[in-house]
Amino acid sequence: MAHGEGGRTIVVSNRGPVTFTRGESGEREHSRGAGGLVTALNAVLRRAENAVWIASAQSEEDVAVSKEPAPYEVEDLRIRLVEHDPASYDLMYNELANPLLWFVQHGLYDLPYSPTLGDETRRAWEEGYVPVNRNFADAVIETAADEDSPTILLHDYQLYMTPLFVRERLGAGAFLSLFVHIPWPEPDLWRVLPHYIREGVLESLLSADVVAFHTHRYARAFAETAADVLGAEVEGGVIHYRGRDVWVRAYPISIDPGEFEDLASSEAVLEEERFVRGLPGKLLLRVDRTDLSKNVVRGFLAYGRMLERHPEMKGEVTFLAQLQPSRTDIREYAAYMEAVGRTAEEVNEEHGTGSWRPIELYMEDNFPRSVAAYKNFDVLLVNAVRDGMNLVAKEAAVINEKNGVLVLSENAGAHEELGEHALTINPYDIDEQAEAIHAALSMPEEEREIRAKGLRETVRSNTIEDWVEAQIEDIEAYRELQG
Ligand code: F6P
Repeated sequence: MAHGEGGRTIVVSNRGPVTFTRGESGEREHSRGAGGLVTALNAVLRRAENAVWIASAQSEEDVAVSKEPAPYEVEDLRIRLVEHDPASYDLMYNELANPLLWFVQHGLYDLPYSPTLGDETRRAWEEGYVPVNRNFADAVIETAADEDSPTILLHDYQLYMTPLFVRERLGAGAFLSLFVHIPWPEPDLWRVLPHYIREGVLESLLSADVVAFHTHRYARAFAETAADVLGAEVEGGVIHYRGRDVWVRAYPISIDPGEFEDLASSEAVLEEERFVRGLPGKLLLRVDRTDLSKNVVRGFLAYGRMLERHPEMKGEVTFLAQLQPSRTDIREYAAYMEAVGRTAEEVNEEHGTGSWRPIELYMEDNFPRSVAAYKNFDVLLVNAVRDGMNLVAKEAAVINEKNGVLVLSENAGAHEELGEHALTINPYDIDEQAEAIHAALSMPEEEREIRAKGLRETVRSNTIEDWVEAQIEDIEAYRELQG
């Protein structure tokens, strides 16, 4: 970017754009990382000259790449991988970031019983989260070494302490932002965290210049939390803290519609379409990671309730759940996968017949099949308990060919943009979800068409390029203001 008058752009995220392996003949190979964040950050890097993307080394070959002195160039990207001590990384990922921070920020705890915090939490923080963040900061500092005013764009909750460590070393000349891609909770929920985390994270985030979210709701909640926990002064979208101004902003992330149009006509997707189109009746679809925040179990219960109340729908619809296994080393996630499987079986046993299975559940990574299903769904269920954005709703809307109806949780970030064209549901209320699914399945064609058009146009009016552009404009404005 010419990001303002700033120097080199450095993007940092836990997961990188590619993973390296050794092929059978011994040469280095790489595969592209999946997921919305990777696509989004690629779009940021396309706009930046000479930019470097820093990420954690995940595979053995990644570690080999991390030991090379210069950033590794692949597919027009300059990548620098960071090797972490495996025990520290495990504590960061499996004990601190994903169970604790993720659970607090998505409101997943059953608070009378969990979490139970103690010395183990402190250990995961001090020996896991903090050292991993120091490693990221060291890599940033090395990469920025010869720059007066680098632009450093940090991403997500795995990196909350990095702004502080970078600021301590690079001073005020560096532009520093941290984009939180997950929800920000209300102050009382943030107070579930022990003092050293709740204050430590906020102090660090407020050493950035911009703290960004996908929705205004999360941006507001963050400002309230900073005021409540640190006593920071909030004035509109600016937090004044320790003599500095920190901008709190909402930039709703999006997709590259062209990318999904190309994918939609690819061989792999056309192949999977044969399977998807062979499913009996209308297609009710969900595509998610097997994450507790996605609310899969209540989705199945709601569908079962719908079949109970509207038995004439039996055999007239199939619920395809395409779920990518996620964070399987974390106890709660493993247990959730079991609960998902069990609930699907129960619904199938109760309502299925010899020739019709109500739920087709696949817990596998099959992106071409998901895209094939995006094209063909009649109803898409996104009933997340809370979700930073939910890009599935946007991806599916732009390539769907059936005027499919979106049933959307009021707590998904996407609801701020897409809500008016969707059927809104409370993710905790299975009766409301059952009725919304039924209403969507039986909606007259004319209304389906209007809603589907609204969804498509809304997504197209704010693409990933717009997301990047809005941030660049703010970086320039911020720099200008600071002189
Ligand atoms: O946006 C949320 C996020 O955690 C990203 O940071 C991450 O890349 C993605 O979801 C998938 O999670 P994980 O990297 O733990 O598989």
